[in-house]
Amino acid sequence: MITVLRLGHRKDRDKRASMHVALVARALGGKKIIFCGEADDDLLQRVHTVSRKWGGRFTAEYATSYRTVLKSFKGARVHLTMYGIPLEKSVANIRKARDILVVVGSEKVPADVYQLCDCNVAVTNQPHSEIAALALFFREVEGKKTLSKRFGGGELSIFPSESGKNVTRNK
Ligand SMILES: C[S@@+](CC[C@H](N)C(=O)[O-])C[C@H]1O[C@@H](n2cnc3c(N)ncnc32)[C@H](O)[C@@H]1O
Repeated sequence: MITVLRLGHRKDRDKRASMHVALVARALGGKKIIFCGEADDDLLQRVHTVSRKWGGRFTAEYATSYRTVLKSFKGARVHLTMYGIPLEKSVANIRKARDILVVVGSEKVPADVYQLCDCNVAVTNQPHSEIAALALFFREVEGKKTLSKRFGGGELSIFPSESGKNVTRNK
């Protein structure tokens, strides 16, 4: 299972980007997102609304201390950073872990994150979007199945259509 830790959320500036990090984590089969930085109830609410409407068990929570989250996590802690070891070199090792905490930044990432994590991993050694980097991370770690996760229990379901929107309201 993959949990995402979003560091340094800024309520105004990261309003959309942090939501998109959560959307990627949920749609590709993550278990949970933990936001650090500025507390943002509206963001948590928006993530929970998506899960209620579209199903699955994805949850969002806020933590005051990323250090506590990182130190208490039982599993592999992976920090996504352009300064790290290329994903293609580290992915085989990461796949061995049962539980993964993947860390993405927003503003400048505190230096101790590099040490508190088990590995620092680059999705290319070029500046990148955390949203795209996270999506590629899921795809590489979990393979094709990340594109076909099932989400039960939602208010709405989509039936794939070649010609328009086919959405059913579940009972
Ligand atoms: C847009 S960057 C900004 C980073 C910030 N300016 C700093 O100095 O750390 C935000 C986040 O995207 C992710 N990211 C950016 N480039 C990446 C790359 N090449 N590989 C993996 N993650 C990357 C990292 O998690 C990073 O903290």
